[in-house]
Amino acid sequence: MHIFSHEETKTFHLCNDEISYVMTVLPTGELAQLYFGRSIHDRADFSHLLEGAVRSHSAYPVDGEPFLSLEHVKQEYPSYGTGDFRQGAVELLQENGSRISAFVYSGYEIMAGKPALEGLPATYTESPDEAMTLIVTLVDQVAGAQLQLSYTIFREGGILARSARIKNCGSHTLRLERAMSLCLDLPDCDYDWIQFSGSWARERYPVSRKLTVGTTAVESLRGHSSHQQNPFVILKRPDTTEAHGEAMGFSFIYSGNFSISAQVDPYQVTRMLVGINPEWFSWVLEQGEAFQTPEAVLVYSLNGLNGMSQTLHNLYRTRLVRGEWRDKARPILLNNWEATYFDFNEEKLLQIARKAKECGVELFVLDDGWFGARRNDRAGLGDWVAAKELLPEGIGGLSRKINELGLMFGLWIEPEMVNPDSDLYRAHPDWCLHVPERTRSLGRGQLVLDYSRPEVVDHIYGMLYKVIHEANISYIKWDMNRSLTECWSAGAAPERQGEIFHRHILGVYALYERLIKAFPHILFESCAGGGARFDAGMLYYAPQAWTSDDTDAVERVKIQYGTSYGYPVVSMGSHVSAVPNHQLGRITPLKTRADVAYFGTYGYELDLNRLSDQEQQEVCRYTAFMKENRELIQFGTFYRLQSPFEKNVAAWMVVSEDRTRAIVGYYRTLNTVNDCFTRLRLQGLDPEKCYCVKDMGSFYGDELMNAGLVTSERASEKQGGTVLSSSDFSSHLFLLQANE
Ligand code: GLA
Repeated sequence: MHIFSHEETKTFHLCNDEISYVMTVLPTGELAQLYFGRSIHDRADFSHLLEGAVRSHSAYPVDGEPFLSLEHVKQEYPSYGTGDFRQGAVELLQENGSRISAFVYSGYEIMAGKPALEGLPATYTESPDEAMTLIVTLVDQVAGAQLQLSYTIFREGGILARSARIKNCGSHTLRLERAMSLCLDLPDCDYDWIQFSGSWARERYPVSRKLTVGTTAVESLRGHSSHQQNPFVILKRPDTTEAHGEAMGFSFIYSGNFSISAQVDPYQVTRMLVGINPEWFSWVLEQGEAFQTPEAVLVYSLNGLNGMSQTLHNLYRTRLVRGEWRDKARPILLNNWEATYFDFNEEKLLQIARKAKECGVELFVLDDGWFGARRNDRAGLGDWVAAKELLPEGIGGLSRKINELGLMFGLWIEPEMVNPDSDLYRAHPDWCLHVPERTRSLGRGQLVLDYSRPEVVDHIYGMLYKVIHEANISYIKWDMNRSLTECWSAGAAPERQGEIFHRHILGVYALYERLIKAFPHILFESCAGGGARFDAGMLYYAPQAWTSDDTDAVERVKIQYGTSYGYPVVSMGSHVSAVPNHQLGRITPLKTRADVAYFGTYGYELDLNRLSDQEQQEVCRYTAFMKENRELIQFGTFYRLQSPFEKNVAAWMVVSEDRTRAIVGYYRTLNTVNDCFTRLRLQGLDPEKCYCVKDMGSFYGDELMNAGLVTSERASEKQGGTVLSSSDFSSHLFLLQANE
């Protein structure tokens, strides 16, 4: 890892064993992008990579100087209006009404490690030798603004973390109308763009298309990252597969409105922009004030999509997630939501917990409905005081009784929301986002509290602190069940209303930070009507996230498969639930439900008392299996093998760091008859090692990765066992152990 800075040519080259990132200062002072990709030799002068042309209708700041048209130069942080007609990274409204800006180079600084971003989630280092950071400073003298572009290269992995900071250094008020976190101009457009889209109960399905001239984009304007789109996009070469080829990931460490776009110009240059959605965003910068963008992470891999995902998994698992739980195998939990919904009392909960304990569960989680007048989803949100008619001794009493059973206790909260039918709302009707005299649109019967106001965050903190402090709480599920509407704050001046979406999410982060600091031992799981806030921003506060409200095993293979492109297995909340499945009525075998849920945090979302004795024994075995294997599954290297979006059979696997153990999850949706012969080519094994595949025999790693594992029914029968049961929705786990 090194950052070269060549004073004479004003060229910067950040590199490690995997990647190089090269920039230079143009004669006119703007910062130009020269190269991003596999690591290359350093040289003092890369200016031959600067491409320009004299073209009709283009604008040139120096007449006849072809290399200086901003329409053709690849740039680091462009703005519209001085020759570049593409979307810019920054837009600054000045007092005279002009939005033209020109940031020119003024200096740089290189430092060991990586500075934190105040109030924002970001990747970090634990020792300064893990990364190096380059901060390039540019100024716009006319506007009186300073721009600082920050680039961190890590010692390990093809990763570059970026953010920008804009400061008003002049004597007039400025208004920031756009401040992206990352701009990357790539020299061609021969890429497939992959986004992760969906809706409630079908989050993060990969959707792919070829880039072509024009703009391809995903965004959220819902106030959270959303079910619909995810702040993560991949560009891959057309021939890149899971195992081979070039791929880049663009991940945004942010949980609010975002935009990720690829704009391909007529010369096939691709401009990638990642940042806060400029729609509905503006930020007033008074003299001396600065705006810090969230961080965007750029990942590069030549080892296919799996290589790209693994780089991101490692980074997020070890240097984004924080706290005591980061490196710990996650407890097996039982959540009462699908077991009881709102219909419970203390005795019923204890009955469920007792059986859970018998089946090896470690953590009992009480979901929605325990507080205020919350007997259904129309009332009570905002009143974080236990309902005495359900829990006579409050949360303190219940947590004690749960602990006495030998279980940890966890609790559900939804602190950003308020029901109109609540004491909080009656006392503070202006504490929700709303516009005076206009309708306050309800979602699931609730309104969104205005977290841009510190006094609101303070008040909620006070209530939650009391509940948590008076009980023994090991885990919190933090939910968020509606998108933001009428986003206006009674606490902000008219000219600052464009700040509210961002200030709101800063308030959410601030509350998380306070609770984490006050209760560092608590394991947080984020949730938003399932997976509507499954983003890298949340992982900084909550090491795991509820992946989806859809707990059906067949659907979950798709959702977890899609989620794995950008997020580690250990971050995915995954539970075995009852059948018929509550979301879509499907009946799947208990074994299949467990075989899918293992690839995540693992838990149960049902009343185990309602299972037969035989099923309960099965559950005991499954729990024991997960306890034995969770280190491998949650911290091993994950490979996608066969996509559920393409075939009737899906597969993935995890391999231990020393490559002596592996588990392959193999799932078939519909049963087949007289089917084709099938083989599954594994990945990530040691070619020299001989592996015993349980019930199948012993095979060398090179054979399993090249010839593949024979999975056809007939072949496995010959080996003395059937791989899959002869029914729909069946699954099998192949357990691999290297022979001594
Ligand atoms: C959301 C969550 C569920 C459950 C309910 C409770 O839908 O995703 O898991 O907690 O809220 O109301």
